[in-house]
Amino acid sequence: MITFDSVTKRYPDGFVAVDDLSIEAETGRITVLVGPSGCGKTTTLRMINRMIDATEGQILLDGADVKKIDPPTLRRGIGYVIQQAGLFPHRKIVDNVATVPYLLGWDKKKARDRAMELLERVGLDPKMAQRYPFQLSGGQQQRVGVARALAADPPVLLMDEPFSAVDPIVRTSLQEELLRLQSELNKTIVFVTHDIDEAIKLGDKVAVLRVGGKLAQFAAPKTLLSEPADDFVREFLGRDRGIRRLSFISTEHLRLRTDLVVSSSAASGSAAASDGLLMVVSEDGRPVGWQGSDEPFGTYVHGKDSLRAALDAALLSPSGQAVAVDPEGKVVGIATREALDAALAEAADG
Ligand SMILES: Nc1ncnc2c1ncn2[C@@H]1O[C@H](COP(=O)(O)OP(=O)(O)OP(=O)(O)O)[C@@H](O)[C@H]1O
Ligand SMILES: [Mg+2]
Repeated sequence: MITFDSVTKRYPDGFVAVDDLSIEAETGRITVLVGPSGCGKTTTLRMINRMIDATEGQILLDGADVKKIDPPTLRRGIGYVIQQAGLFPHRKIVDNVATVPYLLGWDKKKARDRAMELLERVGLDPKMAQRYPFQLSGGQQQRVGVARALAADPPVLLMDEPFSAVDPIVRTSLQEELLRLQSELNKTIVFVTHDIDEAIKLGDKVAVLRVGGKLAQFAAPKTLLSEPADDFVREFLGRDRGIRRLSFISTEHLRLRTDLVVSSSAASGSAAASDGLLMVVSEDGRPVGWQGSDEPFGTYVHGKDSLRAALDAALLSPSGQAVAVDPEGKVVGIATREALDAALAEAADG
């Protein structure tokens, strides 16, 4: 756990970049620092590995004051990823990733083996290992940056706007990759971004900072969306707050109708229900289409996908019904408009 206890950073010119900050970044979780340009995110991050020293207050790493740990020792346990990856241009990818292991004096073969393993982990083709950074796309370089930070298996990972220099599609895939990686590695990650959507997607907890380095709110994404602390946070969260909040509401309690599901062999004989379209399923349970209709249908994974996904599926179907499937894609029931309405009403109350 990383604890900020009333931390202030005053630069030599007197400018206060971080003002009396108290937050905790839990072990094995992703804590996101978000806020407008100049609000002190990078300063906050760099005080953890002592690239910048705090002026007042304490930063504790698992209870130990970072000021009492010498910087090289401290940094051995902390991976650091920055925007545009910051790779060494004249070193091959494999050697870029092995940078810290080499510094730690691992033998070359062991360091390279570790690098190759990590390249695979972050979703890069091993063939890329022999290339130089300029021969990779921005998204690939960013993956190398993550692999390099993970090379010595540090328990803590600091990430400063690591995905902000790539296009939105690559960015989405890097975010998903990070979440997948994190589900295996359980690092203590402090992630900086100025993009609130990224913060909400990645953060177990999110600290919203305002200019002047003051904490506006520190909460789980769901809480930020449902209970923004003030107008600043509300405005920062933007317009679709209500819809986005549905991303955090489970579909497990959504009531499903199984009487609206018919198998293809029985379909021709069964009469249409008066209060909803029938979904015809194949022999192995997969959705085929609405009975007697060419209209499209939308599916969501029941209990796994959010209410937002179910609603999206319903909007893709002209009947306003969503097709609920299990993780294998087999139909488990139909969420009717009525059921979705009830879930939305409950969401609005909760
Ligand atoms: N060495 C310094 N001396 C004086 N002021 C500084 C120094 N470094 C940063 N600052 C100021 O501290 C404030 C916070 O800077 P910081 O880099 O932490 O912001 P940030 O939130 O990371 O911004 P961005 O989103 O643009 O990266 C800024 O106003 C910046 O100008
Ligand atoms: Mg910054």
